[in-house]
Amino acid sequence: MTCSLEVKIPESPPHGYPLVIGENLFPEIRNYLPQSSSRLFIISDENVADLYLADLTKNLPCPFTTFIIEAGEESKNLDNFGKICSAAVKADLSRKDTIIALGGGVIGDIAGFAAASYQRGINFIQIPTTLLAMVDSSIGGKVAVNLPDAKNMVGAFYQPHAVIADVNTLRTLPDKELKTGLAEVLKYAFLAKSCNTETAIDLLTFLESNQDKILTKDSQTMITLINACAVLKAAVVNQDEKETGLRAILNLGHTFAHALESLTGYRHYTHGEAVAIGIKGAFLLAADKGLISEEYKEKALNLLSSYGLTYTIPDDLSPEEIYAAMLHDKKASLGQLTFILPTAMAEVGIFPSVLPKEIKEVISKLKNPKNSSHNP
Ligand SMILES: NC(=O)c1ccc[n+]([C@@H]2O[C@H](COP(=O)([O-])OP(=O)(O)OC[C@H]3O[C@@H](n4cnc5c(N)ncnc54)[C@H](O)[C@@H]3O)[C@@H](O)[C@H]2O)c1
Repeated sequence: MTCSLEVKIPESPPHGYPLVIGENLFPEIRNYLPQSSSRLFIISDENVADLYLADLTKNLPCPFTTFIIEAGEESKNLDNFGKICSAAVKADLSRKDTIIALGGGVIGDIAGFAAASYQRGINFIQIPTTLLAMVDSSIGGKVAVNLPDAKNMVGAFYQPHAVIADVNTLRTLPDKELKTGLAEVLKYAFLAKSCNTETAIDLLTFLESNQDKILTKDSQTMITLINACAVLKAAVVNQDEKETGLRAILNLGHTFAHALESLTGYRHYTHGEAVAIGIKGAFLLAADKGLISEEYKEKALNLLSSYGLTYTIPDDLSPEEIYAAMLHDKKASLGQLTFILPTAMAEVGIFPSVLPKEIKEVISKLKNPKNSSHNP
C-alpha cells in the first residue's frame, strides 16, 4: 500500500507538492525530481548515510554530490549551513538543480534552509527517515538552523518539491527516536478535530487499539498512521502556511517543551520527549481550568503512558525558572504566553492569557508525578 496526498497552499500556487508514504519508494524517487534538474546534492547525517545512502544513490538518474554531517541537534548550526552552501558552489549546483534531504528533522531543517537560501532558492526534496520527520518536520515548509542559545532562530518558510516517506527506513530507527515521533503523533490525535478536515481513521481510537503493531513498526500500520497525521498537517498548512492563525494549534505541548529544551541545553530531552511532557502539562492545565473532564484527562494521560511517554521535569529546575524560559520563547509576545489547550475530545483551542500561577502549579505537578492525580 502506498498513500499519496497533495499539500496545496492556495496563496503560493507553485507550492503544491506531493507527499508520498509507502514501502520501497527509493526506486520511484526519480519520478519526483524536477525535470530541470541535471545535478543532485544530497545532505544526510552519518547514521542515516551509512544505512541508506548507497540504496538511494543507486536509483538516481543523474550525477550527485553528497554532504554528510555529524548526527544530532548540535549539527543544525550556521557553520554547517555555510559549509553546505560552499560545497554546493564547488559542486557547481545551479538554480535548476535539486537538494535532497535524507534523514530526520535535523537534516530536513538545515538542508531546507540551504535550499531556500542557495542562489535565493533551489529545488528541494525531503526524504524523511524518522517518524517525527515523516509526520511533522518534512511537511509544511518550516526550515531553520539554531543559534548557540536560540533554537530555530534563523530560517524560512520554504516548501519542498516533494516529500517521499519510505516506512522501511523506520525499521532501523532506535526505540528512543520512535517514541519521540510518537509524541508528535499523539499530539495530532489530540487536535485532529480542530484541523477542519477528515481522516480515514479516528487517530485516538487507532492509537488505543494498535499499540503492539505501532511499537513493532508494522509497515501497513505505520503507513496508515503516518498518512492520517500527514493529512492533518497538510490541511492545517494549506489553511495557514505562515502561522498567522490556525497553524498555532500544532504547538500543542510546545510552550512547555521549548522552555525545557532550552533550559537543559537541548541535551537532556529529544524534541518529542519534551513535547510529551508539554502535552501532559496542557491536559493538566486544561483540567485545572475546567475546560475538559477528568475522564478525558485520564484517557489522555493513560495513552501517553501506554506508549512509554512518561518523562518528568528534573528536580533542579524550579517552576519560576521554567516560567521565565517560557517568556523568552520566540512565540511569547509582550510577556503574554499563548497556550494550546484541549477543550473536548480531539479538539483544542488557543488561549492567549493563562495566569502565571496556573502555569507554575502545573509545572510543579510535572516535576513530581506523585502530586498529580495520574501516577504513571
Ligand atoms: N520544520 C518543522 O516543522 C519541525 C517540526 C518538528 C521538529 N523539527 C525539528 O526536527 C528536529 C528533530 O528531528 P528528529 O527527531 O528527526 O531528530 P534527528 O534528525 O536528530 O534524528 C534523530 C536520530 O535518529 C537517527 N536516524 C534518523 N533516521 C534514522 C533511521 N531510519 N534509522 C536509524 N537512525 C536514524 C539520526 O541519525 C539521529 O541520530 C529538531 O531539530 C526540531 O527542531 C522541525
